[in-house]
Amino acid sequence: MNDTPLLSAVDLHKTFRVSGKSYSTQSLTALDLVSLHLSAGETLGVAGESGCGKSTLAKVMAGLLTPDGGSVFYKGIQLSQLGYNDRTVFRRKTQMIFQDPFSSLNPRMRVGDSISEPFKIAGMSAPLQRAELTRIMAAVGLQSDAVNRFPDEFSGGQRQRIGIARALAASPDILIADEPVSSLDISIQAQIINILLQMKLDFALSMMIVSHNLLVLRHICDRIIIMYLGSVIECGPASELFHRCRHPYTEALIAAIPGVHPSSVSKDVLLRDDLPSALSIPSGCRFHPRCRHAVDLCRHEVPQLVEYSTGHTAACHLSQQLYG
Ligand SMILES: Nc1ncnc2c1ncn2[C@@H]1O[C@H](COP(=O)(O)OP(=O)(O)OP(=O)(O)O)[C@@H](O)[C@H]1O
Ligand code: SF4
Ligand SMILES: [Mg+2]
Repeated sequence: MNDTPLLSAVDLHKTFRVSGKSYSTQSLTALDLVSLHLSAGETLGVAGESGCGKSTLAKVMAGLLTPDGGSVFYKGIQLSQLGYNDRTVFRRKTQMIFQDPFSSLNPRMRVGDSISEPFKIAGMSAPLQRAELTRIMAAVGLQSDAVNRFPDEFSGGQRQRIGIARALAASPDILIADEPVSSLDISIQAQIINILLQMKLDFALSMMIVSHNLLVLRHICDRIIIMYLGSVIECGPASELFHRCRHPYTEALIAAIPGVHPSSVSKDVLLRDDLPSALSIPSGCRFHPRCRHAVDLCRHEVPQLVEYSTGHTAACHLSQQLYG
């Protein structure tokens, strides 16, 4: 059996230069030593507060952003080592779906032509292109007459279906979706989630899904990564993470989900204060200024990710004491 993950990353680091006072620039750390893997057929969720680095991670994994440190591997080969042809294969096999699908569609191109672009690049015959287009449109629940219309004639939910169809047309083996449902109404969110789940089965896809919504991730993911200020602080099987998380930050995120723990949650568990700036990441455990359990050690020593049960890791000095 081949154990090499389809997509993986080791020690990713990404900084951005941002404007500071008096025309100076400062370095903002968006990713700090992030490692992860996505196995064939797996769905991996990425969660965390706004600004914690989820989109940056998604773009680096999709090869749309280059990290300053660390490496991404596709089928065990470092992206930076891929030759031109293999790089083209990687780009086609790793497709991204964005929160706003409109931004990735050409407004002057008919939807059918937009979706069919990868067929043309692959040199498919016209009849085969039509057959594939019909198959993919049906799979994402778009009416056949949609092919002749333009993107601005569709609702947000329909546009997201078009975005998914366009990604599927490239015959990918990995889909990376960044907040694919967060701009949609609740009822439409459920439809798009169901389409993604069905796609995973019908097209044998591996998926990495970024979302603020932990409930959505629990529903569709095998494993979930929790990020905090550019760093992975916990990772584990989706159901285990919910029933037995091992980090106070994860505990706070879960406790904040409306209706999940209605009466049993003490207010102390919930997050206090805002996320600190990524321009000045706290020393030691980066969560310590907001952690009700913080001790002196937390302020000085960075906790490493420790595996507590199979595939369940957390970076907290007190995880064993707090969660057993
Ligand atoms: N192009 C950029 N230039 C400068 N800073 C950036 C850039 N892109 C992201 N950042 C910063 O990097 C950090 C991580 O941003 P990112 O967009 O990855 O977060 P996120 O978790 O996706 O947030 P959200 O949930 O709001 O989408 C933030 O502090 C953000 O301001
Ligand atoms: S290492 Fe300390 S500050 Fe960080 S989460 Fe654990 S207890 Fe809280
Ligand atoms: Mg984002």
